[in-house]
Amino acid sequence: HPVLQVWRHLLKMCDSLSQLAAPRHPKIRLYNLEQVLSWESPFPVNDTRPVVYSVQYKYIVGEWHDVTVKSIGVNCTQITATECDFTAAGLSKGFLLRFNVTLRLRAELGELVSAWVTMPWFLHYRNVTVGPPKHIMVTPREGTLVIAVSPPFEVDTSEATFLYTVHYEEKPGMQQARVKGPLQSNFILLDNLKPFRIYCLQVEAQLFWNTQRIIRPGQLSNTSCYETTADAYAKQQQVIGISVGTLLSLLLLAGACFFLVLKYGSVVKYLFRTPPSIPAQIEEYLKDPVQPILEALDKDISQKDDTWNSVSIISFPEKEREDVL
Ligand SMILES: *[C@@H]1O[C@H](CO)[C@@H](O)[C@H](O)[C@H]1NC(C)=O
Ligand SMILES: *[C@@H]1O[C@H](CO)[C@@H](O)[C@H](O)[C@H]1NC(C)=O
Ligand SMILES: *[C@@H]1O[C@H](CO)[C@@H](O)[C@H](O)[C@H]1NC(C)=O
Ligand SMILES: *[C@@H]1O[C@H](CO)[C@@H](O)[C@H](O)[C@H]1NC(C)=O
Ligand SMILES: *[C@@H]1O[C@H](CO)[C@@H](O)[C@H](O)[C@H]1NC(C)=O
Repeated sequence: HPVLQVWRHLLKMCDSLSQLAAPRHPKIRLYNLEQVLSWESPFPVNDTRPVVYSVQYKYIVGEWHDVTVKSIGVNCTQITATECDFTAAGLSKGFLLRFNVTLRLRAELGELVSAWVTMPWFLHYRNVTVGPPKHIMVTPREGTLVIAVSPPFEVDTSEATFLYTVHYEEKPGMQQARVKGPLQSNFILLDNLKPFRIYCLQVEAQLFWNTQRIIRPGQLSNTSCYETTADAYAKQQQVIGISVGTLLSLLLLAGACFFLVLKYGSVVKYLFRTPPSIPAQIEEYLKDPVQPILEALDKDISQKDDTWNSVSIISFPEKEREDVL
């Protein structure tokens, strides 16, 4: 009947008018161990109506439950705040990380309530955003960087573990970035590095959920740079290098000397000759053999008699000396 239809239409209009608008832009933040649901008021900012919000949760099977101090540890029933922090410090640990959780939310104003806004389900181990390692300690060693990392957050090691990956490159971009990992150890050794070089690195902690064999990627840490020291091998190489270098130079020098001696033997002999104790006259004779030696000697003898002894040490052919004597 047309009159009934009009009535129904009017009732629907009244219903929609009495219905409160739902909270806007709800989102779930899962960062490390944090679990926070936040949203925005359905009204303009300057609207002073005393709107409150209520949050409910449910697991994969079962009913919806209010989020209260008794159930979860935090009160998110009829609250004025526009967020529900399930892991608020000191109050609650939130939902178990392996639980499949669905949340819903509505606005309330006196007798009026909004429709429920149901969020997509989440499972912390699957949906979490894993931050970088909490602490990264790097110790430069001989051609090595020893990296000690601590996990972004604590996990039950029977359920999950962290795998660490180091992205590193030699500064300033001399080589392509290299990757070490993923490794399960908290100690990572970057070895075979060049000594006295600066390496820049970032560390990622992936979350490995053992039972489901699911890996969540992690956020990279900020870049930090370190200089390596010389390694034992490099030091040894240096020492060997210096020794070989010295030896080679010595050999070269010796070779050069030998060559010089061969080529300019007379000159060298002249340069390295012992000062002769030959009397000047004989020297003159040697320079100018035309001048008769005996005459020269005679001259000398006539000048100083006591030079006989010195004359006797000169080795002349036997006959000549006899002649002289
Ligand atoms: C809220 O502020 C806007 C301007 O920012 C104004 O136009 C509007 O009338 C205000 N509403 C109320 C309920 O005060
Ligand atoms: C979590 O629960 C929802 C239903 O609440 C289901 O559709 C979804 O497949 C479940 N996810 C996993 C990983 O079990
Ligand atoms: C939760 O807190 C609000 C105020 O923030 C309070 O009005 C409400 O009664 C509390 N709910 C419970 C169940 O304690
Ligand atoms: C959690 O991850 C699943 C896929 O693994 C996705 O379908 C779901 O919407 C995510 N939940 C949230 C709250 O982002
Ligand atoms: C990384 O760098 C940003 C900006 O440079 C800084 O705000 C942040 O605190 C740093 N993070 C860590 C873990 O040091």
